[in-house]
Amino acid sequence: MTDCYAVFGNPIGHSKSPLIHGLFAQSCGQDMRYEAKLAPLDGFAAAVAEFAAAGGRGANVTVPFKEEAFRLATELTPRAARAGAVNTLAFNGTTILGDNTDGAGLVQDLQHNLGFALAGQRILLLGAGGASRGALAPLLAAAPRQLHIANRTAAKALALARDFADLGPVSGGGYDSLAGRQFDLVINATSASLSGDLPPLPPDLFAPGALAYDMMYGKGDTVFLAFAREQGTARLADGLGMLVEQAAEAFLLWRGQRPQTGPVMAQLRQA
Ligand SMILES: NC(=O)c1ccc[n+]([C@@H]2O[C@H](COP(=O)([O-])OP(=O)(O)OC[C@H]3O[C@@H](n4cnc5c(N)ncnc54)[C@H](OP(=O)(O)O)[C@@H]3O)[C@@H](O)[C@H]2O)c1
Repeated sequence: MTDCYAVFGNPIGHSKSPLIHGLFAQSCGQDMRYEAKLAPLDGFAAAVAEFAAAGGRGANVTVPFKEEAFRLATELTPRAARAGAVNTLAFNGTTILGDNTDGAGLVQDLQHNLGFALAGQRILLLGAGGASRGALAPLLAAAPRQLHIANRTAAKALALARDFADLGPVSGGGYDSLAGRQFDLVINATSASLSGDLPPLPPDLFAPGALAYDMMYGKGDTVFLAFAREQGTARLADGLGMLVEQAAEAFLLWRGQRPQTGPVMAQLRQA
C-alpha cells in the first residue's frame, strides 16, 4: 500500500516539499505519496489528527505551526526538545514523534555541500527567531571557535545565548555588538530578506575568505547576499541546500534511507 505524507502550513502554495520528497521517493524506489496541505490558522492540530487517522505516516510542518507541532508531539528527539520547535512528525499508533531537522540540514549543507568546515571558525548568526534556535545546537556541536548571535531585539539574542551556553562558546547582542568584529561565516537567519530589508550590518564584517549564507532562497541574490558581494565576499550561498538537506533528514527518519540530495538540488535550481 502507498504510504502517505504531507506538509502542513499556512500559506502552503509555495512549498517545494512535495517536489523534493517526490524526487527522493523516485530515486530511492519508495512507494509513497506526499502532498501539501493548507491548515487553518486555528485548526492545525485537527488537520494533523484527521490526516493521521486516515492512515498518514508522517508530516512536515512549516510556518506558522512549528511551535504548535512541538506541543502536539507525544515524544521528542533531543534536537527537537532543544529547538523548542518541530518541523517533522512521525505517526506510530498513538505515538506522535516530533523531530527538528532544520539545523542538521543547515550544517549538512555548510559542511558537506559547500565544503565549509565549522570547527574553529568564528560564526555570526543574524536573527533570534525559530530558525536560529533550531540551528544553534547543531552549529555548536561542530565546535566553532565562537558563535555570536545578533538580533534587532537584543534581549532575544541574549536569552538565546544563555539557553545554549552549556553547549559551547555562544554570545548574543544587538547589531551594535558587531562594531569592529570580523567573522568567517555569517548566516542570515532573519526574515528581513523576505521584505527586501537588510539588517544594519557594519562594513568589514566578513573576514577574508568568509562565507555569507542566507537561509532564504530564490532567484538571484537576496539583499543580504548582495551586501556581502559588495563587501568583496566571494563565497555566497542561499538556503536552498538547507531546504533539501532538512527534507533528506525527515525522509531518513520516515523511511530509514537517506536520499542523494545533489541531483534534487540541481533540478530545483533549474526549475
Ligand atoms: N532554507 C530553509 O530550509 C529554512 C528553514 C527555516 C527558516 N528559513 C528562513 O529563515 C528565516 C527566519 O525564519 P524564522 O522561522 O526564524 O522567523 P521568525 O521566528 O519569525 O524570526 C524572524 C527573525 O528575523 C528578525 N527580523 C525580521 N525582520 C527584520 C528586519 N527588517 N531587520 C532585522 N531583523 C529582522 C526578527 O527580529 P526580532 O526578534 O527583533 O523581531 C527575528 O529575529 C526566514 O527567511 C525563513 O524563510 C529557511
